[in-house]
Amino acid sequence: MNGMAPTVAAADGYLAVGSEIQLLERAFHRRLPVMLTGPTGCGKTRLVEHVGSRVGRPVVTISCHDDLTSADLVGRFLVSGGDVVWQDGPLTRAVREGAICYLDEVVEARHDSLAILHPLTDHRRTLFLDRTGEAVSAPDTFMLVCSYNPAYRSTLKDLKPSFRQRFVTVALDYLSPDREADVLVAEAGVDSATAARLVRCASSLRGADAAFHLEPPSTRTLVTAAHLVAGGVAEIDAIESCVLGPLTTDGTVIGALREIAAASLPAAGAPAPPAKKGKTR
Ligand SMILES: Nc1ncnc2c1ncn2[C@@H]1O[C@H](COP(=O)(O)OP(=O)(O)OP(=O)(O)O)[C@@H](O)[C@H]1O
Ligand SMILES: [Mg+2]
Repeated sequence: MNGMAPTVAAADGYLAVGSEIQLLERAFHRRLPVMLTGPTGCGKTRLVEHVGSRVGRPVVTISCHDDLTSADLVGRFLVSGGDVVWQDGPLTRAVREGAICYLDEVVEARHDSLAILHPLTDHRRTLFLDRTGEAVSAPDTFMLVCSYNPAYRSTLKDLKPSFRQRFVTVALDYLSPDREADVLVAEAGVDSATAARLVRCASSLRGADAAFHLEPPSTRTLVTAAHLVAGGVAEIDAIESCVLGPLTTDGTVIGALREIAAASLPAAGAPAPPAKKGKTR
């Protein structure tokens, strides 16, 4: 995501290091669908909401799961007061309103449910409602954004190339340590030294996550920990409850991670160990 100036800050708290905001905005204006990839809690939902407010369009979010049918997306006939009436689903409403439709964890949805998106994501920009025979043309302000976390992907649950290749793909990752600390200060109101310690701890844990085959601790878990610290909880206890606790229930692994966390959290006021290079974007 190089070549465009990074966005420094936003009124809604979204921080970007790369050019993802500009990419999404340009895709919006060129009427192109976008696929966001990235680990849990790295800011995908925040980014979509942020871009929605920048371009002045509402965001309709649909969480995908393997029971999601095409009727759940486009709508169905319902019996109401003795009459049979058609009720639009969230995708159809988003298309009619010219909203940004955000399909979260799209890899979870069944392939047959996703097939109805094909004519919406190419030059036709049309949603075909088979049950009513209606063809709903997407206004220029309609945008489809999908997301998934590649770490969860298995061969059983993968997107077809014919689906993936319809999208502009924007790969996100965690912020750089300085910027991630800025998020903790802004979201939880902790001081910058505390934020830097919590981020250093996460960076150490992220460095170890591959060895333990774990999903790394997210910015979300750090924000939650920072809220507890701001509320008076000791940093090590906040890390235990908010960062380590959700990672695994394996006692041996937790024990090893606890040691890594404790080593990265010197007592407040003590000199900090040199920062380790973590995953950044
Ligand atoms: N770039 C960022 N700027 C500001 N806040 C961020 C950023 N990234 C993460 N956060 C913080 O982390 C929280 C989680 O972000 P968000 O819900 O957007 O993650 P996500 O990628 O959508 O996660 P999931 O895959 O689990 O849905 C936010 O509420 C915010 O506090
Ligand atoms: Mg999300």
